[in-house]
Amino acid sequence: MIRPGKRENKDPDGARWMRKDLLSLEELSREEIELVLDTAESFKEVSSRDIKKVPALRGKTIANLFFESSTRTRTSFELAAKRLSADIVNFSSTGSSTSKGESLRDTARNIEAMHIDTIVMRHSSSGSAEYLARSIRAGVINAGDGIHEHPTQGLLDIFTIREKKKKIEGLRVCLVGDILHSRVARSNIWGLKKLGAKVTVCGPPTLIPRGIETLGVEVCYDLDRAVQDQDVLNILRIQLERQRGVFFPSIREYAAEYGISKERMKQAKSDVIIMHPGPVNRGVELAGEVADGPQSVILDQVTNGVAVRMAVLFLTTLVER
Ligand code: CP
Repeated sequence: MIRPGKRENKDPDGARWMRKDLLSLEELSREEIELVLDTAESFKEVSSRDIKKVPALRGKTIANLFFESSTRTRTSFELAAKRLSADIVNFSSTGSSTSKGESLRDTARNIEAMHIDTIVMRHSSSGSAEYLARSIRAGVINAGDGIHEHPTQGLLDIFTIREKKKKIEGLRVCLVGDILHSRVARSNIWGLKKLGAKVTVCGPPTLIPRGIETLGVEVCYDLDRAVQDQDVLNILRIQLERQRGVFFPSIREYAAEYGISKERMKQAKSDVIIMHPGPVNRGVELAGEVADGPQSVILDQVTNGVAVRMAVLFLTTLVER
């Protein structure tokens, strides 16, 4: 049952959606995460129809506001909005008045003044989505804020794991690579832990944040050991654009120690699934033959992203303001 609710109302059974915004998975309860996943499951079928459209958000307007580059997330939100019959407009920092010095708050308030219902925003500053949500009446969906969170990526990853493994509780999931700079890692950790998975992070010591164990994850610096008993390997990109310093000797050495190669896959369980949020640096964090191999679910993640974003737009946009 899908039931968007009134903003600010509290529902004791937790099954009603109350939020005009989706800012992080840290703030969601287990029940709210499961509601998004179940709603996405009911929307997934829409994308396989001849006419890929339902009237759920007819008359509503969504704005995509991207201050950082994106292929998957932006396209996926655009398709999700269109499949729900919403109108969608795209803004990017290049070619907009932000390049003339306009503040984020003013940009958003001006866009909101055109009667936008929900703004989807990607920004390089951690906390920018929360700041915006407090500043405007329209809903705000965080499409990635700095190194903080990327909640819809976390949700689509968890949706894909649940689809492939039929459960989350008790599964062993290892996030591999640049954990320090990864908003995807943080959203995965919050979401997976709330649903009862056992999460390990593995990467060079310089790319694992100090104290991450307090989030309830295990830390392993030896990838050959880490891959052995995992049900899911979620491989993360090295976030060179966010790194301020030298965190490993060279790309070649990183690939040798922390790249998922065909050879390394021989030590993994035969039914392990390989995930990657994209974009993939082939031959660095993941060998091309593994990315394209039978255990890879990378393109399923992309497909599921549309259904998950349909669910998020549907639930948040219909909340009373
Ligand atoms: N996974 C992800 O956020 O990809 P994009 O940067 O292409 O949106």
